[in-house]
Amino acid sequence: MMKCLYLLSVVFHIVAGCALSSDNLKEITRHRGDSVLLPCSCSDLNTKHQKLTWKSYRTGHAEEVFNDKRYRGRLQLFNNISPANLSLFISDLRVEDQGIYRCSTEKEIKDIKLYVKGCELVKKTEVEHVTVFTGESVVLPCVCTDIQDKPQGLKWEFYRISHYEEIYPKQTGHHRNRVKLVTNNSPGNLSLLISDLTEEDQGDYTCSEKEKLQHTQGKQRQHLHQYHLRIEPDAIYVNMTHIHTAGAAGIQISAGEENE
Ligand SMILES: *[C@@H]1O[C@H](CO)[C@@H](O)[C@H](O)[C@H]1NC(C)=O
Ligand SMILES: *[C@@H]1O[C@H](CO)[C@@H](O)[C@H](O)[C@H]1NC(C)=O
Ligand SMILES: *[C@@H]1O[C@H](CO)[C@@H](O)[C@H](O)[C@H]1NC(C)=O
Repeated sequence: MMKCLYLLSVVFHIVAGCALSSDNLKEITRHRGDSVLLPCSCSDLNTKHQKLTWKSYRTGHAEEVFNDKRYRGRLQLFNNISPANLSLFISDLRVEDQGIYRCSTEKEIKDIKLYVKGCELVKKTEVEHVTVFTGESVVLPCVCTDIQDKPQGLKWEFYRISHYEEIYPKQTGHHRNRVKLVTNNSPGNLSLLISDLTEEDQGDYTCSEKEKLQHTQGKQRQHLHQYHLRIEPDAIYVNMTHIHTAGAAGIQISAGEENE
């Protein structure tokens, strides 16, 4: 009788442990700002209370995610409602969240590799020259390699001789209220529309995206998109000056460079 009870309790104990159900999902890719459900569950859905830990290896060594303040307010478990469901939900993903996550029960472990993509600007090595007339608008293209990527720390800047301005997202100087992004619902399209161009807008423009990758090994790349914008006085004015200077003194003045 005692033997029988003992056996029963052993059997019960084994059943109570959680064997992880094996789905083949080992890698998950998300974009910055997205949420992710890292799946982990007991194959026996009747599993009662189960010892569970979730660790991340994003800094190279294991750390319990619930003790890691970087995840504060972004984690959710469901095992209080359904004990066999050990999945971890992480919201508002950051690029630094990328790494291996380990779900451990008393019996087993399961690793999932999470990739979190930020924006990497389309590679561009040359400065592009753009010529526009005063009063017109211009779109300076700047896009992430994946048009669904969400940039972080995007900046458009303006330079000309001894003059610098941030023009997006901070709008300063004479560009104020004349610039906006033309995203078209694609978060990775950072193209800038500048309207009502004046000769003062002539100069260099750069679009850059700075990743804040504190713990990521490997190279931190930062691509730039650079434009040189040349502003011509409008067409009629160019032609008139040209005729005038040529006729009067024969001096060659090239249009657009007569600004003081
Ligand atoms: C666990 O719970 C989450 C949230 O309710 C759900 O999306 C997921 O499908 C569940 N997983 C299993 C294996 O039931
Ligand atoms: C980005 O937006 C601009 C302006 O709407 C559009 O002309 C351009 O094609 C877009 N680029 C991509 C890669 O979708
Ligand atoms: C100057 O005028 C000519 C003819 O009147 C025109 O064809 C040309 O496009 C004009 N120049 C510019 C820069 O618009």
